[in-house]
Amino acid sequence: MVRTPIDGRLAAAAKAARAHAHAPYSKFKVGAAILADDGKVYSGCNVENAAYPNGVCAETSAISAMVLGGARKIREIAIIAGGPKLVTPCGGCRQRIAEFADPETPVHVCGPEGLKTTFTIAELLPASFDKRNLKSAKPGLNPKRARSKTAR
Ligand code: THU
Repeated sequence: MVRTPIDGRLAAAAKAARAHAHAPYSKFKVGAAILADDGKVYSGCNVENAAYPNGVCAETSAISAMVLGGARKIREIAIIAGGPKLVTPCGGCRQRIAEFADPETPVHVCGPEGLKTTFTIAELLPASFDKRNLKSAKPGLNPKRARSKTAR
């Protein structure tokens, strides 16, 4: 756990996104914002559903916005929520963040008053499964390699 300064734009975007949260069931509003490698900030909020499992976390919404915007790399991500406890990304969101991050990518955890603390994604998701696992798979299990073999 480290304390790194947070980009003012990132904190403001996460806060603004939280105001749009659709959380009528949990009443737990969350906002997230990503500073991407294109220098732009992409944000998202949680969007719940009456069919509970169909709800989407704020981090996932922000990642979708980033991908739609054409960026593919998270430089930093900020999450903001209420309550006294640190609101770190859920397990699924940690995996989604890792997909577009480096191990040292900062994950800023904020409350309404501002930055609480900062983790790296590797701290939140150690020994993760990623694309390197797929590359080391047996040739027969890798669709790309399997295709090129049949082409020969
Ligand atoms: N939630 C997020 O959006 N991000 C998190 O990091 C934790 C949880 C949302 C999901 C659900 O809409 C609500 O918070 C309560 O779990």
